Amino acid sequence: MNNFVYDIPVKVYFGENQLGNLSTELKKYGKRVLLTYGGGSIKRSGLYDEIVAEVEKAGMELFELSGIDPNPRIESVRTGVKLCKEEKIDVLLAVGGGSTIDATKAIAAGSCVDFDPWDFFSKRTPIEKALPLITVLTLAATGSEMNRNGVVSNPETQDKIGIAARALLPKVSFLDPTITYSVSKYQTACGSADILNHIMEVYFNMNQDLFMLDTVMEGLMKTVMKYAPVAMREPDNYEARANLMWASSWAINGFVNGGKQLPWSCHPIEHEISAIYDITHGLGLAIIAPRWLEYCLDETTVSKYYQYGTNVFGIDPSLKAMTVAKKSIEMTADFLYNTLGLTSTLSEVGVKKEDIPTMAQKACGNDIIHGFKDLNQKDIEKILEMCF
Ligand code: NZQ
Ligand code: ZN
Repeated sequence: MNNFVYDIPVKVYFGENQLGNLSTELKKYGKRVLLTYGGGSIKRSGLYDEIVAEVEKAGMELFELSGIDPNPRIESVRTGVKLCKEEKIDVLLAVGGGSTIDATKAIAAGSCVDFDPWDFFSKRTPIEKALPLITVLTLAATGSEMNRNGVVSNPETQDKIGIAARALLPKVSFLDPTITYSVSKYQTACGSADILNHIMEVYFNMNQDLFMLDTVMEGLMKTVMKYAPVAMREPDNYEARANLMWASSWAINGFVNGGKQLPWSCHPIEHEISAIYDITHGLGLAIIAPRWLEYCLDETTVSKYYQYGTNVFGIDPSLKAMTVAKKSIEMTADFLYNTLGLTSTLSEVGVKKEDIPTMAQKACGNDIIHGFKDLNQKDIEKILEMCF
């Protein structure tokens, strides 16, 4: 195992009825709170009223920014930053999925500087400081509630770019699985595909000495495969929602990386698709991942697929390694397209082949993704071709 630093200081309240602790946590950070949320699901579910009651209980002054879109836009971030500066906001409260939380992270950082927050994304300006952030997660998917990342889109430049900084870690996150009962079948499927891909992006590497973490990741993948269909069938199944929620946080909070920090492969490709076509992130990943697995399979990588196939899907270990590997890819695709019912091709979501070179070029940044297998622009173009 390589050396690494493990440092995830996010306080998590997990489970039903934990929201009653929100007021206590909020008031530790000041008097003026900006509540951020998306297109209104929190109003329809009644969560909004509970949040407002907690802010009142804390005796704090409430400000609001609503309408944060899926694949959140830099414009929402700019509006939020303006509001924070004008109203001298002390603490941010993001209530939503990854989009709301990510945009709020950028607002938190943007409020501490004098330049345009898009500079954090386009110029990679380091993030040193941010306002404190508390999250109430409403959708199990991105892990933003427990990590230092945020992804924001700029429709003008057709860019979708991620930032990462320790200052962006939420101070506290509330994970109540019952809040996710209202997540649609489709978003449950997309979120589950996202969680699965976060694990695969780390699991697929050729290091041999990470048995402990590999075993954890296999357990996380099995968790997604076991409980995603249950949550889709029975939206208010607590056990399923709870397992998915906790898996989403641990898939991408840094724990499973250990000392191996390989660049991810499917995510940069997907971000270029959703930058242009605004598709749901998890859906894009579901389309790409099985093709990426197929593309990377050869004699040098087959042992990892064998491990995946036998340990995650229970494929007969006495079969030849290449047979197990191919079967494991088929079973991954079957899970995504048949069990989760997700669309399997880019043509079906309106992507045009003529955009492949641009998307591929931007995904690798005119360089090479040194991931599970090295991918240059041509490799990514071929993977994208396979998705049609
Ligand atoms: O906006 P509202 O009305 O709340 O509706 C949302 C939205 O339409 C709805 N929803 C959320 N919780 C709900 C609910 N509907 C009913 N009941 C609930 N409890 O679901 C829709 C999608 O929400 P969104 O926040 O966009 O989904 P997700 O959590 O999948 O976030 C996706 C974004 O996160 C980025 C993605 O690229 C994408 O922009 N990612 C962030 C990461 C991170 N910060 O670490 C990593 C990921 O790999 C990913 O890139
Ligand atoms: Zn993701």
